[in-house]
Amino acid sequence: MEEDIVTMPERKRLNYENKIILAPMVRIGTLPMRLLALDYGADIVYTEELIDWKLLRSFRRVNDVLGTVDYIDKTDGTVTFRTCAKERDKVVLQIGTCDATRALKVGKMVEQDVAGIDLNMGCPKLFSMLGKMGAALLQEPETATDILRTLVDSLNIPVTCKIRVLPDLQKTIELCERLASTGISAIAVHGRTVSERPQHPNRNEVLKTISSKLTIPVIANGGSREIQTYFDILKFKNVTGCSSVMLARAAEWNCSIFCKEGLLPMENVIKAYIKYAVDCDNSPSNTKYCIQNILREQQKSPLGKRFLNSQTLEQICDVWKLSEYCRTKRKEFEAKGFLGRSQVSPMKEDETRNDDQSCNKRKLSEEEDIILMHCAFLRNNYATDLELPKTILHKWAQTQRKKMPQYETKQKGKLFRSVITVDGRRYGSSFWEKNKKWAEQGAALVCLFSMGLISEKALAESGGVPS
Ligand SMILES: Cc1cc2nc3c(=O)[nH]c(=O)nc-3n(C[C@H](O)[C@H](O)[C@H](O)COP(=O)(O)O)c2cc1C
Repeated sequence: MEEDIVTMPERKRLNYENKIILAPMVRIGTLPMRLLALDYGADIVYTEELIDWKLLRSFRRVNDVLGTVDYIDKTDGTVTFRTCAKERDKVVLQIGTCDATRALKVGKMVEQDVAGIDLNMGCPKLFSMLGKMGAALLQEPETATDILRTLVDSLNIPVTCKIRVLPDLQKTIELCERLASTGISAIAVHGRTVSERPQHPNRNEVLKTISSKLTIPVIANGGSREIQTYFDILKFKNVTGCSSVMLARAAEWNCSIFCKEGLLPMENVIKAYIKYAVDCDNSPSNTKYCIQNILREQQKSPLGKRFLNSQTLEQICDVWKLSEYCRTKRKEFEAKGFLGRSQVSPMKEDETRNDDQSCNKRKLSEEEDIILMHCAFLRNNYATDLELPKTILHKWAQTQRKKMPQYETKQKGKLFRSVITVDGRRYGSSFWEKNKKWAEQGAALVCLFSMGLISEKALAESGGVPS
C-alpha cells in the first residue's frame, strides 16, 4: 500500500485511501495482535471497542519498562487500553458511546496517543443496543451525527465511523451521506444488516454503490468468508470498488493474511504472537483467547489440549518452547523494577473519584482493630491452588494448632471485601474484589504478610501496598 501518512501542517494525519486495515475486534484487537498485524503488513490497526465510561474511569500512565502508555481502570487496576510508540501513527481507537460529551472527553484524553478515533455504529450485541450504542445508533442518526461532528470539530486527529448496511439501499446511502457531512475522514461499512449473521453473504454490491456515491473514502468490511489469501483482499477491494479494505475474522484466524508474500504457517503466527504477548505483559486470559481463535479445531490435538490446560503466560510459552524467552523477559522487567501486571495495582480508593467507595474505606478504617492494607488478589499470579494465600494460611493454622481462619465478607453492589480473623487478630484488604473468593484471598494475603509468612516482594507482586 502506498504512502502511509500524509503530513498536515499541525501533525501527522492518517490517510484512509488504499489501505488494508485490521478491524476492531473485542478481545482480539489488543496490543500484541495489533503489533503483529503491523509487522505482517497491515496499514492501519483498530483497537477493540472501548466503552466511553470505562475509559473515563481510567488514568493514563507511561510504563517506562514496557515502553507502553497504559490507561488503567481506577476501580480494579486492570489495563483498559495499552498502546506504544510503534503503533502511534497507525492505531485507531474505536469507542462505544451514545453521548457526544463523553465521547469528546475520551477523544481529548487519548488523542496524543492514537492516530484516529472511530465510532462503533455496528455492534448488534444486547449490551450495546440497551446502552443505545453500536448498531442502535443506526436508528438514531441525530445522536450519531452529533457525536461525530463534536469529535471532528474539537479533535486534532481524524474521526471515522463503522456501520452496518440497512435493509434498504436508498436509506443506507442517505445515512452514509448524512454521516459523511459531519466531516469524518472515512466510513467503514460492514455489508450485512444488523439481523444478518456472519454466514450470510456480504452485500458487496451495496458497498460498491455506497463507494460510488460518497466523496470520502469508504472502507469495505465483511469479506472474510471470501478471503483466504492476500490476493483475495485485492479482489474484495475491486469487487466493492471501495478505497480500502478492513479485515476481522480472516486476521483473527491467521494474522499473516496481511503478508503480501502469502500466509505463514499457524505455528509461526502463534509464536510471533506469544512473543508480543510477553513483551507487552499481556494478560494470560487474553493471550489464551487469541491463541484459541487461531488454533480453532486444532484445540482438540494433543498440543491444543496441553495449551488449554495452561494458565500462566509461562505455561502458554512452554507449549511452544518459548518459556526461556518468557523467563528472560520477566527478569529484564524485574531488573527495571517492574513486577508485571501485578504492578498495575488499583489506585488507593481515596485517589479515585468514586465517593461511594471512599466512604466505605473510611468506615472500615474506623474499625481500628483491623490491620488494613490495600491489596488486590491477582489470581493469575498463582500457578496452582497450593500457592494460594488461603491454602498457605490454612496449612499454617493446622501446623500451629490454631483455630481455622474465620472470614466475614461485605458486599457492595457487585464488589466484595473480606476481613479475616486469625489467632485473635483481624486483617483485611481495602481493595474491593469482583467476587467473594478473591476478597477472602486478598484478606488472607494481608494476614500472611502481617504475620511475616510471606515477603514484601510476594505481597508487592499481588499489588499490595500498605494502606
Ligand atoms: C471476535 C470479534 C469481535 C468483534 N468486535 C468488534 C468490535 O469491537 N467493534 C466492531 O465494530 N466490530 C466488531 N466485530 C465485527 C468485525 O469488525 C467485522 O465487522 C465483522 O467480523 C465482519 O468482517 P469480517 O468478514 O472481516 O470478519 C467483531 C468481530 C469478531 C469476529
